[in-house]
Amino acid sequence: MHHFEYRGGRLHAEAVDLTALAETVGTPFYVYSEATLRRHIQVFQKSFADTDILVAYSVKANSNLAVLKVLASEGAGADVVSGGELKRALAAGIAPAKIVFSGVGKTDEEMSAALDAGIHQFNVESEPELIALSRVAVAIGKTAPIALRINPDVAAGGHAKISTGKSVDKFGVPYADAHTIFKRAATLPGIDVKGVDVHIGSQISELAPFEAAFGRVADLINTLRSDGITIERLDLGGGLGIPYGEGLTPPHPDAYGEMIKRITASLDVELIVEPGRMIVGNAGVLVSRVVYVKENGDRQFLILDAGMNDLLRPALYDAYHDIWPVAEPSGSTTIVYDVVGPVCESGDRFAASRALPEMREGDFVAILSAGAYGAVQASQYNSRPLTPEVLVNGDKHAIIRRRPSFEEMVALEETADWL
Ligand code: LLP
Repeated sequence: MHHFEYRGGRLHAEAVDLTALAETVGTPFYVYSEATLRRHIQVFQKSFADTDILVAYSVKANSNLAVLKVLASEGAGADVVSGGELKRALAAGIAPAKIVFSGVGKTDEEMSAALDAGIHQFNVESEPELIALSRVAVAIGKTAPIALRINPDVAAGGHAKISTGKSVDKFGVPYADAHTIFKRAATLPGIDVKGVDVHIGSQISELAPFEAAFGRVADLINTLRSDGITIERLDLGGGLGIPYGEGLTPPHPDAYGEMIKRITASLDVELIVEPGRMIVGNAGVLVSRVVYVKENGDRQFLILDAGMNDLLRPALYDAYHDIWPVAEPSGSTTIVYDVVGPVCESGDRFAASRALPEMREGDFVAILSAGAYGAVQASQYNSRPLTPEVLVNGDKHAIIRRRPSFEEMVALEETADWL
């Protein structure tokens, strides 16, 4: 459920009229509903009520500091994958004891910063990383609490590019090697083995792959324990899908929570989960303006002022996003459009053959479910400035990232002294 709805024929984010907002901020821009963010994190936390669990929001989905502050105020922790995300989480007021650090390529500097901060756990993804972490920790006189990420070799995820749990993927250590690496970890200085970690992919729309993977790691925990290795924590990653309007109905967090509680009931572990998309995805939309309506033979193109640099998901993952007119149509005429952006690539297309109410130049549209992996994946390709972000709370709004000027966009560039 989200708080984007028509009021008097005009699309609103909570009580903010998006037409008025578009006129003030200028398009394209992202707008997030604070009430929706709060609702989603609360629903998720409620699904695990009475469970020893850390809900570590996956910062990569939307790392805007204001968004992080909202989630921090709801008690969320953070799953970070870089030194930059770590700094953001800390800046937003998330306690180090609620931060876990994932990712296959952590550098010495990043490890050292996380050790200094005193984070809850490193999710270690390989033996070389384990050795490096031991070295870094010893050098600065700290101990690194770790979980080892296991690759359970389970297929999952809405698209090949967001599936991470197969043995061909770069993530985690092979299930079969886990035992040996845990034994090794227990002997390394500066390493404190805490648990097992798994994450199999993203936009997963059914429980079965989760259940298969979690069942495998539960078995592994039992074997490790019978071999004298202490396992106190189990990090189950993120990945729960959301409805994008394409007909999929992913499980409710309650069903996901029930399944996890059932599978882990006898393990007596502290649980960690890392939801990203589920918290922010449907809490944001991308508002854009129709620049032209163009007819090419039998195709009708709706050319927007937002492009693949602003929202990459359709181009990169063939992702489906609902598109709504910001002014509710008065008539019932629909036209089949290809909805595209201005970027000079054929892949710069938000939707192919999409039936929409008849649109005109200057009309505004909202691309829905754009709160996760939207603004964070934006670039300045084609020298288009980064998309602004706006947070709405009731009838208030705040610009939480402004549009850079041309001068700011080129500020890091220098000409070579021989030019
Ligand atoms: N934990 C780990 C270790 C992850 O790699 C991810 C996402 C998450 C948690 C959060 O997963 P979520 O709950 O959001 O599914 N850019 C792609 C999605 C990439 C997901 C990467 N990892 C997209 O736009 O669909």
